[in-house]
Amino acid sequence: MRLSPSAPQPDNRPMAQPFLKWAGGKAKLAPAIIKRAPRWFRRYHEPFLGGGAVFFAIAKAQPLTGAHLNDANEELMACYQAVRDQPEPLLARLEALAAAYLPLAHEARAELYYRVRATVPTLAIDRAARLIFLNRTCYNGLFRVNAKGQFNVPHGRYSNPAIADRARILAASEALRDAELTSSDFETACAAAEPGDLVYLDPPYVPLSDTASFTAYTARDFGPSDQRRLRDVFDSLSRRGVAALLSNSAHETVRDLYRDRGYTFETVAMSRAVNSVGRGRAPIPELLVSNLEHPAVREAFATLARHA
Ligand SMILES: C[S@@+](CC[C@H](N)C(=O)[O-])C[C@H]1O[C@@H](n2cnc3c(N)ncnc32)[C@H](O)[C@@H]1O
Repeated sequence: MRLSPSAPQPDNRPMAQPFLKWAGGKAKLAPAIIKRAPRWFRRYHEPFLGGGAVFFAIAKAQPLTGAHLNDANEELMACYQAVRDQPEPLLARLEALAAAYLPLAHEARAELYYRVRATVPTLAIDRAARLIFLNRTCYNGLFRVNAKGQFNVPHGRYSNPAIADRARILAASEALRDAELTSSDFETACAAAEPGDLVYLDPPYVPLSDTASFTAYTARDFGPSDQRRLRDVFDSLSRRGVAALLSNSAHETVRDLYRDRGYTFETVAMSRAVNSVGRGRAPIPELLVSNLEHPAVREAFATLARHA
């Protein structure tokens, strides 16, 4: 069991941060989440990892005793695997792509972009190089797939995108070194959490309006029945004495799902980094749900503190 991330940062810690731009990225919300995390916890779990903004913020503040990182998006998790295990060969591929792409004029860049987009690599390292390249050069830097699970974002217009960001990839690789990486549904990923662990859940949000929906991270949509299933998983974590923090849109249906179960709610205003419709960058209220005051969670953490 380690001190929580609120501990002072030792020297020489890699300043890891997300190496992908990700829709719904929580870089701005991370301090609020870290502030609300328990002071002590065992293993850290993040079943909806996305760009990993909260994981990197926590890992930057304090090395974790263990981390289990998961996302249903297989392409994404293959990318994390390559960053963790093969950072130098991955950087060599990215540097080659950058050298081929950056000197070109816009039309030729677009041609190269669509050629890379059309490839279907099988090795994790090639999948990672493709995903990072597309993520850095695509329109608005967002990951979106069609019903067949194919990445379908058009080419962007960045003059000098950071395709091969050596410092960032190496710092991320270091932060991921001991992390367990999986790609499964959140319910499976949460099954391994034990009393005294901390789980941060950041699902695709309940849309605040009919037009604000962005759930195309995977070929399968995340609908109301998944939100209910997630609430049941949250209940199960609470009963098992696992600390859980969840962020979602401040929508009445979310409050209704988590109401009257011993959980606390807080609304936090946050501006979005990536917005597919290119508007609405004004702060949007986020709802944070916490089970830290739930009796079974309090009991589990009190027991751990006595034995620490
Ligand atoms: C809001 S994003 C997470 C963003 C992340 N917190 C960040 O800072 O970048 C939600 C993530 O959930 C993943 N996801 C969607 N359905 C899922 C499921 N059933 N199980 C696990 N992950 C899922 C998506 O691929 C997406 O990366």
